[in-house]
Formats: sequence, C-alpha cells, structure tokens
Amino acid sequence: MTGTPKVPLVAGNWKMHMTIPEARELVSAILRAAPGVSGASLVVIPPFTALSEVSSLLGGSGIALGGQDLFWEEKGAYTGEISGPMLRDAGCGHVLIGHSERRQHFAETDETVNRKLRAALKSGLRPILCIGETLEERQAGKTASRVDTQIEQDLRGLSAEDLASVILAYEPDWAIGTGVTAAPTQAGEVHTHIRGRLGEKYGNGPASCAIILYGGSVKPANSYALFKEKNIDGFLVGGASLEADSFIGIAREALRADREKK
Ligand code: PGA
Repeated sequence: MTGTPKVPLVAGNWKMHMTIPEARELVSAILRAAPGVSGASLVVIPPFTALSEVSSLLGGSGIALGGQDLFWEEKGAYTGEISGPMLRDAGCGHVLIGHSERRQHFAETDETVNRKLRAALKSGLRPILCIGETLEERQAGKTASRVDTQIEQDLRGLSAEDLASVILAYEPDWAIGTGVTAAPTQAGEVHTHIRGRLGEKYGNGPASCAIILYGGSVKPANSYALFKEKNIDGFLVGGASLEADSFIGIAREALRADREKK
C-alpha cells in the first residue's frame, strides 16, 4: 500500500487546564521549541475557551489544533454543547472522541462515540478515537475483547476511506493520569492486536496506514522505548503536554526511535 510515509504524531490533551493567558504562554513556548522536532507532527488540544486564541497564535506554524469533544448535531437547542462546524470555525482540524474520562464521568457509550465520530468526519475533522480497557478488564484477561468491541461499535458504518481520516489512540484506563505506564511490550502487543483487527475489518492496506497512538502517563523518559514498538505511531499525552519542554521532549524521543526503526 502506498501513501504518505508516517511521521511520529504527538498530540497534547490539555484537559481542563489553562486559562487564556496560560494557554498563550504555553503555546509560545511550544512554538519556540518546535523547530527542533520538525520531523514530527504535533497537535495541541486546549479547552474550548482557549481554542480561538491558540488558533491565531499557531498561525501557519504547521502545528495542528484539536477540540476535546463535540456533539453530533450541527446546531440547535443543546445547551452547553459544541458542534463540529463550531470547532472548524475555531480553527480545529482534529477532535478527541471517546476519551476514557468522557466515558467514565460523562456516561459516553460506544453508541454515542460512534455518533460523534461520524459527526466529526462529516464536519471534515480528523477524529482521534480513544479506546482501551479498564484495570478490571485487563485483570480478567478481557483486554483484546474490549478493544475489539470498541473497534466494532465505535467504527460502525465507517468505510475504509473513512478510516484513513481516523487516528486511533490506545489508552489503557489504568495508565491515564496515574503515573503507571503500560510496559512497552504490553502496549505494543495491544497495538499489534488493534492493527490486526483493523486488517480483518478493512483490509491490510488501510490497516497498515492507520495511525495508532499510545496514551497513558507518557513522558520524555518512556517515549523512546514505547515508540520503538512496531505498531506505535505516536502519543496522546495528558499531564506532560502542559509543559513545552516535556511535550517537545516526547516528540524528540519519538523521532530518535523512529530513525532507528527505519
Ligand atoms: P496522561 O493522560 O498522559 O496524563 O496519563 C493521557 C490522556 O488522558 O490522554
């Protein structure tokens, strides 16, 4: 399968952090350091309130902007919600869908995730779809079956062509914000499983082109070893994306591992 060669992708999910002045400071620092990792693809994902400001600061830097969630309707009486066209309007090209914190605290289900995913594609946004198992599921040996269900239900109705616009992020629940990272081989095993499952569903070509990120306590110190795993194409970073040094450091380590992988 031909296609543009993959470059390491590092996305920073700021979660519910950063006022507008704080966001300005962080983006300025990222912009200063970014030329050092020009071989990587960077995405910043601020809270909604800072999107427009961050979008103007990013300008033509090549760093992409993402929203943390969206609602599936385009407009209407849905107090508190934000739609795909609104995210586009604010400068976003990406959107997180089905983050485990949304699934856990805001009752998102595979069905709502699927509706959001299709809405994102319809709006021309690149969804970053988060999947992964809980600690109980892992301990019960159900990791593979959980991610299979998510792939089946979250991607329902998507064609192979749609899949090309979707970025997947494997984020084991138990590794998010806990300081516990999946061991590189543990993460790599699930990534290989996910790519295999995508292959069964969409064919090996589309599956090998799919970008599969790892997320869960990623930092500069562990990103090299994680990226060395065959099917890890980049990272979705929470805590360590709140400081330019660690965010860029992760991209630098991923690039170093990428050079050795090729
Ligand atoms: P963390 O968060 O890096 O702070 O574990 C990852 C995520 O939630 O995307």
